[in-house]
Amino acid sequence: MLHKISSIALLLALGISTQATQIFSNTGTTSGWDATNAEHSGTVQQVTNVVYKGTTALKMTQVYDPSYTGRYHSEVVKNSVYKRGDTGFYGFAFRLQENWQFSPAQGYNIAQFIADFGDTGCDDWMPSSMVWLQGNQLYSRVKQGSICAQRIQTFPNLATVSAGVWHRIVIQASWKTDGTGYYKMWFDGTKVLEEYNINTTIEDDRAFQFRVGLYANSWHDDGTMKGTQGTRSVWYDQIAAGSTFADADPAQW
Ligand SMILES: *[C@@H]1O[C@H](CO)[C@@H](O)[C@H](O)[C@H]1NC(C)=O
Repeated sequence: MLHKISSIALLLALGISTQATQIFSNTGTTSGWDATNAEHSGTVQQVTNVVYKGTTALKMTQVYDPSYTGRYHSEVVKNSVYKRGDTGFYGFAFRLQENWQFSPAQGYNIAQFIADFGDTGCDDWMPSSMVWLQGNQLYSRVKQGSICAQRIQTFPNLATVSAGVWHRIVIQASWKTDGTGYYKMWFDGTKVLEEYNINTTIEDDRAFQFRVGLYANSWHDDGTMKGTQGTRSVWYDQIAAGSTFADADPAQW
């Protein structure tokens, strides 16, 4: 009985402390971001013909150019989304173009948390967690250690991604470096990853950005494009962060 009462009290307390609070939200518009990063021939466009919800979505396109040696970002940027010690939910809806070429497999990043470490002498812009496609498989990761001694923990094969349909991603993270962090991911409402008691970021207190968009990182990192699809588009809608699952789940706001 005592146990029951304290459980109820705990639930009430939790209910009060997890009042929905979005720290930011975007309904698929080019306005409202801290920055837009469209490199080389890439574009970031607001469209009305393909949307998950409401009247607008973002269409991110990148174009491979064998004579170009730079990177291929088409992203929007929200500053100061987490710092070490924070806990939060981060979500978005995305859709690959209908004829997206999954094979031969190459990595295409679709979202990332990133900060500028140019002052450290060890790195410049360093992504901590990333979400990407490898073939038709969804991958994610966390970055651990220090900026000068980085370690990556990869979470492969989390889900199979289909082209031409909207998918929903929600991440919940407790950003820690003392071994007590957690990192979870939901794909289309189903939990596909749950890791407890891990380090989820690196030993530093600066604020990380959250970015969504197509970042065709393998074209640069592999020094070539595999396959024949040198122009690729990914749409985004209902991008948000907050303190509850409902704050970040594109289906719920
Ligand atoms: C977390 O990171 C700290 C500092 O880098 C390290 O000492 C510790 O072993 C790590 N813990 C886990 C569970 O990886």
